Amino acid sequence: MNYRVPRTRKEIFETLIKGLQRLEYRGYDSAGVAIDGNNNEVKERHIQLVKKRGNVKALDEELYKQDGMDLKVEFETHFGIAHTRWATHGVPNAVNSHPQRSDKGNEFVVIHNGIITNYKDLRKFLESKGYEFESETDTETIAKLIKYVFDNRETEDITFSTLVERVIQQLEGAFALVFKSIHYPGEAVATRRGSPLLIGVRSKYKLSTEQIPVLYRTRNIENVKNICKTRMKRLDSSTCLHAVGDKAVEFFFASDASAIIEHTNRVIFLEDDDIAAVADGKLSIHRVKRSASDDPSRAIQTLQMELQQIMKGNFSAFMQKEIFEQPESVFNTMRGRVNFETNTVLLGGLKDHLKEIRRCRRLIVIGCGTSYHAAVATRQVLEELTELPVMVELASDFLDRNTPVFRDDVCFFISQSGETADTLLALRYCKDRRALTVGVTNTVGSSISRETDCGVHINAGPEIGVASTKAYTSQFISLVMFGLMMSEDRISLQNRRREIIHGLRSLPELIKEVLSLDEKIHDLALELYTQRSLLVMGRGYNYATCLEGALKIKEITYMHSEGILAGELKHGPLALIDKQMPVIMVIMKDPCFAKCQNALQQVTARQGRPIILCSKDDTESSKFAYKTIELPHTVDCLQGILSVIPLQLLSFHLAVLRGYDVDFPRNLAKSVTVE
Ligand code: G6P
Repeated sequence: MNYRVPRTRKEIFETLIKGLQRLEYRGYDSAGVAIDGNNNEVKERHIQLVKKRGNVKALDEELYKQDGMDLKVEFETHFGIAHTRWATHGVPNAVNSHPQRSDKGNEFVVIHNGIITNYKDLRKFLESKGYEFESETDTETIAKLIKYVFDNRETEDITFSTLVERVIQQLEGAFALVFKSIHYPGEAVATRRGSPLLIGVRSKYKLSTEQIPVLYRTRNIENVKNICKTRMKRLDSSTCLHAVGDKAVEFFFASDASAIIEHTNRVIFLEDDDIAAVADGKLSIHRVKRSASDDPSRAIQTLQMELQQIMKGNFSAFMQKEIFEQPESVFNTMRGRVNFETNTVLLGGLKDHLKEIRRCRRLIVIGCGTSYHAAVATRQVLEELTELPVMVELASDFLDRNTPVFRDDVCFFISQSGETADTLLALRYCKDRRALTVGVTNTVGSSISRETDCGVHINAGPEIGVASTKAYTSQFISLVMFGLMMSEDRISLQNRRREIIHGLRSLPELIKEVLSLDEKIHDLALELYTQRSLLVMGRGYNYATCLEGALKIKEITYMHSEGILAGELKHGPLALIDKQMPVIMVIMKDPCFAKCQNALQQVTARQGRPIILCSKDDTESSKFAYKTIELPHTVDCLQGILSVIPLQLLSFHLAVLRGYDVDFPRNLAKSVTVE
């Protein structure tokens, strides 16, 4: 939203579309925008909705085809909203895409990230009141509900944010919402619960404050009808954020900082149930109840992220760029934390809780998808270094089982985005049981990083490709660093610690060496890309590599792929092996080497033709291999960082050869904020 910053319609389009493109990894089955109509008289503006099935590019093209859209017209104050969707309710098409509207006159429009679980009841109620629905979405109920509240208002001067306040009291589920209305031209209202939402602020002028005080209602609200009778502290300049002297200011609402970083790095993270409103170029935040954090204000934070970090550069896909960034990203994860001279590790976000963690009964490490695999990958080294029982859990299953959790448990939540609904719910479940909670995320200000008692930021830099790569290796290293920090005083573990820390030091160089195998892996992909299935087998420290490699292959190549524990081969999967079935075996020089040789024999005895990922000096395995990819050797517990990279590269090349869009795999989204 721009206030007293003249912008042409073209610039407004570009800002919205670029923002969507930067968020496209979150969803890309349809997209839409709502902007002000041509009339520059704020009071007389109508809302123009443009929606399209397909990606943001399709929407961009559609925008310019609209009749009567003067691209040169200049707006002093303008508020546009845009959304790119990943369908939860209703097929991807223009009608189901957002913004959703209250009626054919577009009186209220809304965009929504999340899921409304009681939408059926709300829809029934609204239908009984005569509201007609056009889409199959849960979001449309929100648009209709706000109109219902508006149509039934008791006073003419009801504010936009009061309407929104009443609406969200009726909503169950998760949401980040931004509303626009013809009844409140030039005003914006946004709110969240469970889904991320931040506000970027840009102004050439000094801002009135760096902390926005949060306003509360003066009386407790018992039911919705009473709300209008309660009063909020009056808005005055000390309760708002604006550019001093009513100067030009722009506000950007987004679910992720990458959408706005090219405009500003000054952001405010909203808390659950905050209602943020911009009117007359002034931003205010209010809430009905005090926040869980009980922070009486919201600070403007300065993000370190740079635009360049979220650009593809010379790579053909974000995923490829992120794979090749790993020498730097793993270095950044360790930077300032691992002291290679003194062989010590310090994770600032955990140091105050270390005593408590050391006293705990067990560690539970929880995540979804790739983040879960990072837990599997490090379980053994964590058990070894912490001398504690370590459980690794898929968040959804952990919740399904109502897993017993105790006060003396320490629960780790691994999440690149910090927003995954399953992981977030598992976190709240553990908090309710008073366990100590630790976040391991890649997103500053994310829900998981804010709601945990303490945590580690993995510092991998923004990850845009839906298939996670560099976040995995940085999560892996973060958990190893935690183990090292825990074992600092254990005399019996000193040699082992030194060995691991030494291994960490050389990782960036070794990763570069693995990346130089790219061409060889491309050639392998040329042989494999027409196959329907691909098995990936290994055990011990490298089992997680198999799970993660198979996940990468499934996610972006749509081939069937399974990560198989080599120890389980004879208990079933061996039946799949024949001359045709492509099998990748991960065999490293580690304590499982001999057992892996057994599996190799079992595969070759059934005419299988294994492609082996093995250590450079391994002459034994290569004798039986159809093909080998030789990897540099590192400490056993870190080897998984090197062995996963060829599989990341392989999945990338397979997907490209099969003609798929690597960064936007069908049916998937980067950050799944629904259960
Ligand atoms: C989605 C993504 C996966 C990711 C998983 C967990 O399913 O498609 O790539 O591993 O969520 O995401 P998180 O942000 O919690 O690590």
